[in-house]
Amino acid sequence: MKIFQSVRSSIRSGSPYANNDPDDPRKYLKNFLLHFRPTAVPERTLRFTLTWALGLASTVLLVLLMLSGLLLKFVYEPTPVYAYESIVHLGAEVPFGQLLRNMHRWSGYALLMTAFLHLLRVFYTSAFHAPRQFNWIVGLGLFSVVALSNFTGYLLPWDQISYWAITISTSMLDYVPWVGTTVKAWILGGPEPGPATLMNFYAIHTAILPIMLLFALPFHFWRIRKANGVVIPRAPEEELPTPLPMVNTVPHLVSREVAMTFVVLAIILGVSMLFNAPLAEQANPGMSPNPTKAPWYFMGIQEILMHFHPLFAALIIPATLAAGLLYIPYINYDANTQGVWFCSEKGRRLALVAAIAAIVLTVALVLLDDLLLSANTATPPTIIRNGLLPFLSMLAIGGGFYALAKKVFAANKNEAVQAVFTLVMVAFITLTVIGIWFRGAGMQLMWAG
Ligand code: HEM
Repeated sequence: MKIFQSVRSSIRSGSPYANNDPDDPRKYLKNFLLHFRPTAVPERTLRFTLTWALGLASTVLLVLLMLSGLLLKFVYEPTPVYAYESIVHLGAEVPFGQLLRNMHRWSGYALLMTAFLHLLRVFYTSAFHAPRQFNWIVGLGLFSVVALSNFTGYLLPWDQISYWAITISTSMLDYVPWVGTTVKAWILGGPEPGPATLMNFYAIHTAILPIMLLFALPFHFWRIRKANGVVIPRAPEEELPTPLPMVNTVPHLVSREVAMTFVVLAIILGVSMLFNAPLAEQANPGMSPNPTKAPWYFMGIQEILMHFHPLFAALIIPATLAAGLLYIPYINYDANTQGVWFCSEKGRRLALVAAIAAIVLTVALVLLDDLLLSANTATPPTIIRNGLLPFLSMLAIGGGFYALAKKVFAANKNEAVQAVFTLVMVAFITLTVIGIWFRGAGMQLMWAG
């Protein structure tokens, strides 16, 4: 009996929560939570319209993915002979197996979307300036790992959709000069997807990437604390009051987080009960479906590949985009817009103009290229005609838009950069939408349906 008492008192030793009511029944929970949260946060940062709970939703989805993924490991077998069978068995015979698979799949897609929307909210509230610059970079790393996790998981059911989506996506690597083919062979474990690919993807999906996330995510959170919490929202031109009104983390922040956690879980559970994760026939390496499409989140790149020389589509354009994203926090801005949505009223209007221009231009250029330019097949596509020239035209459109924002609309640097960012992001989203819904057999343009 004495041993139990010793163990019990060792667990509850010491004062659990200084400066608080010793009779509070939740003192241990509070004490635990406050080990990794500040005791108080600025009241303004609790506004839903600052974060839209997107960081929290991403965190909840990540945890859900890890837990559901762990359970899936009990049934899934990473060999071409049994992978498909184990997924069918999971859906047909394992209690709640289909629900589990659905939750894993829809959480993965939802995470891609919430992480992307979180990136947009961080950008549009100027939450990437010092001292948060490096956390933007960490965030980009997290986003890449999330995208790779989705990609590597996509192959695992080993059905026609997944097999050919991975085949077409990895074939883009062939166009990366010097290292492309070697990297592709290394990832696939051979010239085309086969047993070694499944093993590689399985190990990367279930061990390497989750471990990277387990290190990167706490680092992301730690950087938020080092920056004294999230950015403080304010209206354009508004001076923040000093001192800022604060509220206790427990219960004000934590209760909101718990409520949002249940909302996210309810949405995922509801969607998973209504819609099954897709599963086509077992992979047949000898027969490709028509059309053969990459996973939906890579359709923007596949669409670019339809118009640009592969070297530009597979390497130069993605690398330019990545370099631009990495550079964003280190540009020498000329105004302090931290915490102000869209920098200012003018910034908001400019972003709207950029978004509309991006949709109209992208659709017009895709139609022009598909209906007019591609008809001219007599001239074989050259790296200049389909690569350098259109690429330089894209850069000129971006640069022209920046100059227009500065000269005609007298925008400051923050607003002009935001306009160009919007132009690029909306163009990429438009390409993705065209690729997913407006390409049919033979990847021809068609009306959605
Ligand atoms: C797995 C993906 C991610 C998770 C789970 C995550 C999680 C979070 C959380 C919980 C916060 C606290 C504020 C909030 O909820 O908005 C936050 C803030 C932040 N995140 Fe992320 N994040 C992810 C990806 C990203 C990405 C892709 C970026 C940008 C490239 C980014 C950059 C930042 C920055 C700069 C902050 C500080 C924002 C501020 O101070 O207002 N994060 N993140």
